[in-house]
Amino acid sequence: MHYISYMAIRCFLLSMVAVMLFCASAWAQEAQKPNIVIIGTGGTIAGVGKSNANVSAYQSAVLPIDTLIKALPEITNIANIKMEQIFQMGSESFNNERLLKLTRRVSELLKSKEVDGVVITHGTDTMEETSYFLNLTIKSEKPVVLVGAMRPASALSADGPLNIYNAVIVVAHKDSAGKGTLIVMNDEIHAARDVTKTSSVKIETFRSLYGPLGTIVEGTPRYYRLPARPHTIQSEFDIDAIDTLPEVNVVYAHENMSRVPYDALVAAGTKAIIHMGVGNGSVADYITDALKEVRAKGVFVVRATRTGGGIVVRNGEINDDQNDYIVTDDQNPAKARILMALALTKTTNTKELQEIFWKY
Ligand code: SIN
Repeated sequence: MHYISYMAIRCFLLSMVAVMLFCASAWAQEAQKPNIVIIGTGGTIAGVGKSNANVSAYQSAVLPIDTLIKALPEITNIANIKMEQIFQMGSESFNNERLLKLTRRVSELLKSKEVDGVVITHGTDTMEETSYFLNLTIKSEKPVVLVGAMRPASALSADGPLNIYNAVIVVAHKDSAGKGTLIVMNDEIHAARDVTKTSSVKIETFRSLYGPLGTIVEGTPRYYRLPARPHTIQSEFDIDAIDTLPEVNVVYAHENMSRVPYDALVAAGTKAIIHMGVGNGSVADYITDALKEVRAKGVFVVRATRTGGGIVVRNGEINDDQNDYIVTDDQNPAKARILMALALTKTTNTKELQEIFWKY
């Protein structure tokens, strides 16, 4: 009898030690995993169609972020995940106020020792603008990745789940630190500055003029190039120092265009107009005076190209020095709007504004 109770106590103690060892190892594994916050903003990635055959006609921004993440238990093997729903909208509805709100929240999260990186689910339509703004204003080397989808969550072969999985892999990986804000889509990793959405429907819509920074293969990001222009901690722009953004608008040039949009924007109080010109940001002979008047009224003129590539040559056919115009370098007009708005928070000197375009 005495011997039996001795054995029972021994078994009990041994099993307690085993449970403690198991708990300690599980705790150590959790502690080793990075802490990632996933912020939901809406977009197609959270979209739902009438049937699973609706891959391009659907309602965007329907499913909350926790529903999207619950469907992906695999990511809990990679990171400890927390979620926040900051907006639930199509990305076409981003404006300066919403951009500032999102960026301030990302900045606040990254300042915490408890957060190792942030993933933002975002509509693909304006993802390139939001990511560029974050790239220029967030003072942290911790990885920030924007991710979206071209097919709604309900679609056959929805691309959202793998894109989110890859985004978490990229944020969790040590090689992703210090590379600025990234966009992860379709197994590719793009630098915020260079990437553009190039198709309204295709899965392979995101292209970078100089190629992606890297790719994700079997759960590992592989980088092949680095962003050349300053970003995040090297940038002179800081979200903590920005209260509001000045109004900057884009006018798209075409044959037989009207001067009405220029005059209307000046009358509405815009601070700068991005002239999205044909070719080398050219200006029609019947628009030349309108543009000169814009500048004479104190509104900055920034010449961009609608071609989708190449740089806008300063003082080529148009005398930018004489007209006090700015050229965009190779920035697309939507990104030029972001950069000009930020630049105007620093200076209203045309030469300095031009330097900012050459630098970033
Ligand atoms: C959006 O940008 O919100 C809609 C389109 C998309 O996410 O692909």
